[in-house]
Amino acid sequence: HNPSNFSAALGLPYLGDYPRTYTHEGGFPAGFVWGSGTAAYQIEGAWNEGGRGPSIWDDFSGAGGPAHEAMVKVGAIAGGGGNHSGAVACDHYHRYREDVQLMASLGLRHYRFSLSWPRILPNGTLAGGVNEEGAAFYDALIDALIAAKIEPFVTLYHWDLPSALQTAASPGWLSAGTVRHFEDFARLCFERWGGKVRRWVTFNEPWTFTAPGKPYADVRTGPYLAGHNVLLAHAAAVRAFRETAAASGGAIGITNNIDWREPLTAAPEDVAAAERAREWWLAWFCDPIWRGDYPPSMRASLGERLPTFTPSELESLQGLNHYGSSFVVAQPNGKHYGKHYGEGNGESYWRDYEALALHSEEMKEEAAASAWLYSVPWGLRKLLSWVKRRYGNPPLYVTENGWSTPGNDSASSAQVADGSRVRFLANYTSELRRAIYEDGVDVRGYYAWSLLDNFEWEMGYSERFGLVYTDYATQRRHPKASARWL
Ligand code: NOJ
Repeated sequence: HNPSNFSAALGLPYLGDYPRTYTHEGGFPAGFVWGSGTAAYQIEGAWNEGGRGPSIWDDFSGAGGPAHEAMVKVGAIAGGGGNHSGAVACDHYHRYREDVQLMASLGLRHYRFSLSWPRILPNGTLAGGVNEEGAAFYDALIDALIAAKIEPFVTLYHWDLPSALQTAASPGWLSAGTVRHFEDFARLCFERWGGKVRRWVTFNEPWTFTAPGKPYADVRTGPYLAGHNVLLAHAAAVRAFRETAAASGGAIGITNNIDWREPLTAAPEDVAAAERAREWWLAWFCDPIWRGDYPPSMRASLGERLPTFTPSELESLQGLNHYGSSFVVAQPNGKHYGKHYGEGNGESYWRDYEALALHSEEMKEEAAASAWLYSVPWGLRKLLSWVKRRYGNPPLYVTENGWSTPGNDSASSAQVADGSRVRFLANYTSELRRAIYEDGVDVRGYYAWSLLDNFEWEMGYSERFGLVYTDYATQRRHPKASARWL
């Protein structure tokens, strides 16, 4: 496309061609998928409209509800004095038509987004009734995408559990009931949209939402039980998919995440600690699916605290979310770096695996706005090779990879000329290309995170990951240089 026409069409100033230097000579494999992604709670807003029920993220961030004051007081969500929530976010619920147009104008052909479970099943269960208005929103969104020749890639669970399933009687992912309700929800989605959506993801980042740092009553077993139930729910959804939508030729998988873990020294104990760190993060959720049981290092250390898995042959596509890397040293009473992970209840998890991940500042790389994110492009290549070796080269999608800048609303022009994000994407996709052509990893696609600046969970609006700038005061969208580059 012609970039100046593109800016004019959006009513934006033309920022110039940017930059010409980052190209991938020789290109990528035929059929390689390039896309971008979002998640329902991070962009939709309309938290109490159209019959939607509350989610645990409304409760946590206190989106306009009675809990809000209390959450502001404890500062649950950073930025804006702790009063950020997904109550409005990017107002995508009302603006999805314009957003689809925007995607089309950017030349986007593949879009990953998630369905809000409480928008479709307000109290989480089929028995509680389907919210037809909520389901109709996704009918309209999916139809608009298809009409614009953009392929929808749907995540069923991107963290917004219906509040009704997180109670004393039904403690979220600690409860087998949640597994059954998720299976019902998944089946409903496959029946309704299986004819239109070909690629599905069951769970986004099980590691992130099950462990560590959760206020589990029993911190010694909580993460492992929650993780186990998520794996069972994944298996149940895959079965439901095979019984319903699979006939229409689609594919289903799970999106896991991991920072690369590099041994700080060549000492055997550090090399082993780095491998253990990868096992306790990524292999925790991949080994059961591709190898039939949890990693041996987890079994050895946790014994009966780790539930027993009935192996079921699940041939799934593998989505990987990857951002940064850290060095690792062995440490008998291991703990994690910094404030972001590993404090409070999470500590038992880090102690269990006896490794210390050093803050990636040690890598002397470019720092993002997010405290945990440094640009380490070679980490992606090493991770992809590791997954290839351990799991026999399964088809992979990089389902997220991206870069954050500070969420300062007054700096929109600097935000739009986002050189650091272009550099990040260029460097990571270069390593991705080497993983494919030099290491033979079967990577089928890449989805940059995120299409829009949005609600960055516990960081609120204080970090921006978008290819497109969101002006929250006006809800205008401004494509950044990175959007054009990608
Ligand atoms: C992972 C999550 O899936 C996504 O929701 C989040 O915004 C990004 N990483 C950046 O932290």
